[in-house]
Amino acid sequence: MIGKLNHVAIAVPDLEAASATYRDTLGARVSDPVDLPEHGVTTVFVDLPNTRLELLHPLGEDSPIAAFLARNTGGGIHHMCFEVDDIQAARDTLVADGARVLGGGEPRIGAHGKPVLFLHPRDFHGCLIEIEQA
Ligand code: CO
Repeated sequence: MIGKLNHVAIAVPDLEAASATYRDTLGARVSDPVDLPEHGVTTVFVDLPNTRLELLHPLGEDSPIAAFLARNTGGGIHHMCFEVDDIQAARDTLVADGARVLGGGEPRIGAHGKPVLFLHPRDFHGCLIEIEQA
């Protein structure tokens, strides 16, 4: 069902410091920060040859990553995103298998303008999974 690893999202308490680490220490290509107010995050994209990382920092009052950073004060991996061909079909298969889909189960438009769903981390060995229709 799942295809390419689209991105790994890392919640960070200090976006500037994290950008510098990936750009200067690790030598990756790093974007300027991009505010995504509808998603409650400011994001820095780190382009790698085979995938990308998204450094996430809370934006606004109801950021979905605020609670995560409150629990993980030093930052940490927040989710992984895998591509699927047909998100409705993927959702139906996952639900039939007993997986919990977050947020009511209907795909919504994600940070890249494509339909996404999030899957409960307890059903995936402690990792929040995002699937995106590529
Ligand atoms: Co994501």
